[in-house]
Amino acid sequence: MQRDSIANTFAVATCLCVVCSVVVSTAAVVLRPAQERNQLMEQKRNILRAAGLYQRDRPLEELFEQVEVHVVDLESGELVDPSVIDPDTFNQRAAARDPDKSRSLDRRQDPAGIGRRADYSFVYMVRKNGQLSQVVLPVHGKGLWSTLYGFLALDADLDHIQGLTFYEHGETPGLGGEVDNPRWQQQWVGKRAFDDQGDVRIRVLRGRVDDDDPDAIHQVDGLAGATITAQGVSNLVQFWLGEQGFGSVLETLRERETE
Ligand SMILES: Cc1cc2nc3c(=O)[nH]c(=O)nc-3n(C[C@H](O)[C@H](O)[C@H](O)COP(=O)(O)O)c2cc1C
Repeated sequence: MQRDSIANTFAVATCLCVVCSVVVSTAAVVLRPAQERNQLMEQKRNILRAAGLYQRDRPLEELFEQVEVHVVDLESGELVDPSVIDPDTFNQRAAARDPDKSRSLDRRQDPAGIGRRADYSFVYMVRKNGQLSQVVLPVHGKGLWSTLYGFLALDADLDHIQGLTFYEHGETPGLGGEVDNPRWQQQWVGKRAFDDQGDVRIRVLRGRVDDDDPDAIHQVDGLAGATITAQGVSNLVQFWLGEQGFGSVLETLRERETE
């Protein structure tokens, strides 16, 4: 075969494609465990950040020992025994895609725009001297371009917010990506999620919070130029605190912790 013949060109191109695809797929397979480990670390870091427990100079695993990992039944609000669902192997995202392990939400029930909600969820608890001091709830919902995944930490009263962080989203840096801005996240700290009647009241405004407004305790400033993402965050937080989200879990915890 001539070196510069058409057949030779195709043969070389085909070989190159095969070699490159083998290299890329091998790298993807080999690197997957490391990527999954890093994702898990990032989640742990964000759980600790939401709970205000993260310290840069301390090993993550050591800090995470303060956190109890539980799986809850979102329908009954009860904790699920680890012998029934093992938190080490439970995959909440896969469960949310599986029609046998999740429920479909109609538009009215679904301000977070997630379509389906897994029957079970992780819940993270922090105790001090045996007393519940914080509960960290995994939350997710649609922004403008992506689904945002994060954690909302509530104080022991299950009302005051300790923090909100996101560990995964595809919003535009500088616009929707400002959900990661520590100054914006700081605004959530100390806000009340519920009103005195127990209804979800926390929300992100389409502007700035007026500190003289009696509702200011339930409000967070919007993100200029990124109202769609900001309203997405508002909606997803409301959804997960509501009856389709962790409503029954919070109810159970309130009863148990005030016993
Ligand atoms: C390239 C590009 C990226 C954008 N990214 C976001 C985004 O991540 N989040 C968002 O809410 N709006 C984003 N916007 C703006 C929205 O289209 C929309 O104008 C904005 O959410 C409205 O918010 P405002 O009323 O505060 O201006 C983007 C716009 C452009 C042109």
